[in-house]
Amino acid sequence: MELSGRPGWLDSGVVTVRIAPSLLAADFADLGGAATQVPGADWLHVDVMDNHFVPNLTIGVPVVEALAKVAPQPLDCHLMIDDPDRWAPAYVEAGASSVTFHAEAVRAPVHLARELRRLGARAGLALRPATDVGPYADLLPELDLLLVMTVEPGLGGQEFLDTCLPKLRRARELVDRAGGEIWLQVDGGVGLETIERCAEAGADMFVAGSAVYAADDPDAAVAELRRRAEGAVSSAWHTPG
Ligand code: DX5
Ligand code: ZN
Repeated sequence: MELSGRPGWLDSGVVTVRIAPSLLAADFADLGGAATQVPGADWLHVDVMDNHFVPNLTIGVPVVEALAKVAPQPLDCHLMIDDPDRWAPAYVEAGASSVTFHAEAVRAPVHLARELRRLGARAGLALRPATDVGPYADLLPELDLLLVMTVEPGLGGQEFLDTCLPKLRRARELVDRAGGEIWLQVDGGVGLETIERCAEAGADMFVAGSAVYAADDPDAAVAELRRRAEGAVSSAWHTPG
């Protein structure tokens, strides 16, 4: 099989696909039940919105604390909030295993990432669709996760923005160059029709809200998303350049 021309990020030969259903699309009256509906998921994505950074208000620290006690999966908190420097550490204390703050909202990203890691969580940086990844290249060694958003943050069920794919490819190059173990997450409009494009562009962690919780069988949807992402990764491996 022809292996030349494979993307650099496949050079190690090992890509672990991680699927993180977003609770934003679940029944807010039964979030614990929503967690147990997806035993095949690697993580649970928790969208925290403050009605300032984005025009929507969701959940905060007490709900994360309650979820952490019952969810079988580790919690991946995506903070769409102003002043994450002040508020983000509390999400680790509430039980989140990964906390992602937005580049457009944070004041001292290195300081905050170090604080999140010191408290025992993975530290993530998120970019809105119009935010360039280049200026954050030097920060990558301080991070465990880079989130490239493929919709404007604030709402679930929006249409995937193909225009973000070149940035995802660029992010993959920068993450590879930085070394270490930085997961490249994609969030927004990720579903059966779009996940392969994301995987081919270099994402290895996939957030999906409506594609999971609007499905008749959410856990089967997780399995199918994983199958498609893994298939796209392996055909990227075998595609001659
Ligand atoms: C949007 C959130 C996403 C959202 C994705 O601001 O960050 O996590 O839940 O939902 P879908 O997958 O429906 O686009
Ligand atoms: Zn999210």
